[in-house]
Amino acid sequence: MALALQRDSAALLPRPFRVARSRRELIDVWTLELEAPDGHDPVSFRPGQFTMVYAFGIGEVPISISGDPVKPDVLVHTVRAVGAVTRAVCAARKGDTLGVRGPYGEGWPVEAARGRDVVIMAGGLGLAPLRPLVRAVMAQRAAFGRVVLLVGARTPASLLFSRELARWRARFDLDVRATVDAGDSTWNGDVGVITTLLPRVTFDPAITTAFVCGPEVMMRFAAADLVHRGVPPDLVFLSMERNMKCAVGVCGHCQFGPAFVCKDGPVFPYSRIEASLRIREV
Ligand SMILES: Cc1cc2nc3c(=O)[nH]c(=O)nc-3n(C[C@H](O)[C@H](O)[C@H](O)COP(=O)(O)OP(=O)(O)OC[C@H]3O[C@@H](n4cnc5c(N)ncnc54)[C@H](O)[C@@H]3O)c2cc1C
Ligand code: FES
Repeated sequence: MALALQRDSAALLPRPFRVARSRRELIDVWTLELEAPDGHDPVSFRPGQFTMVYAFGIGEVPISISGDPVKPDVLVHTVRAVGAVTRAVCAARKGDTLGVRGPYGEGWPVEAARGRDVVIMAGGLGLAPLRPLVRAVMAQRAAFGRVVLLVGARTPASLLFSRELARWRARFDLDVRATVDAGDSTWNGDVGVITTLLPRVTFDPAITTAFVCGPEVMMRFAAADLVHRGVPPDLVFLSMERNMKCAVGVCGHCQFGPAFVCKDGPVFPYSRIEASLRIREV
């Protein structure tokens, strides 16, 4: 018993990671590449999982892993500076140390898409937790049917990973579309909410698995539209966000209806959370 308690509390202690690279993505968004200290295990993760990132002396926040699952030596996080902790994380530079524990949570069930068409819908920073999924799908491209990536952003300047999007767009085996809420003189693409892209792409709803991440209102409309088109509700997956403390299903901070986002999620099938999604901030 004492040994189990000791082991559990050790799992809750952040490990120091060194910032190997930091890159500004958008005006308020940074991508950090973190390396475990020499002699420590690399961080193997499944697409859609998150870690708890600790800015020493300031606090700890859940952040999705945005790197490549086949490159566990570097832990990649893409962070928007919105408050004290995320501002401190975004301010970290090469050589600085951050604490990390995890990875935690149930990620995107890539296997549920095998042999099927795949529709991936990302709103704003939602592309960060979806990027490992896109990489995983493209790494085994022949195992899937049509693959569609739809991306929405508020403005052209807030489109995340624009260089990678351009590379993906150049591929014949990936249908990438982007739309913005408000265009400008640099933008000659689509303008409108992300669901306006759905009728314009080809996929067979009955054999489609969908993955959606973005602001909650966007996910609600996207999931309802996918299901309305005939995608099975248990094969529409959404990644939820709630405030977290322990990240291991103990403190109850992340309760979402009858589930805990940290342990049961953050990825849930729409069929499981549809009722909770209709209630504001359950
Ligand atoms: C599973 C999971 C994965 C996440 N992945 C990422 C990620 O990859 N990149 C990233 O930048 N953020 C991610 N977040 C959100 C991130 O954890 C919060 O932005 C962070 O906790 C804010 O902490 P803070 O101390 O900087 O700001 P706070 O002082 O806590 O908040 C500052 C402002 O941001 C708002 N805010 C706080 N949390 C959120 C939230 N979850 N969503 C929207 N607004 C919020 C607050 O209402 C407040 O207005 C994730 C959250 C969860 C639960
Ligand atoms: S954060 Fe403690 S139960 Fe989820």
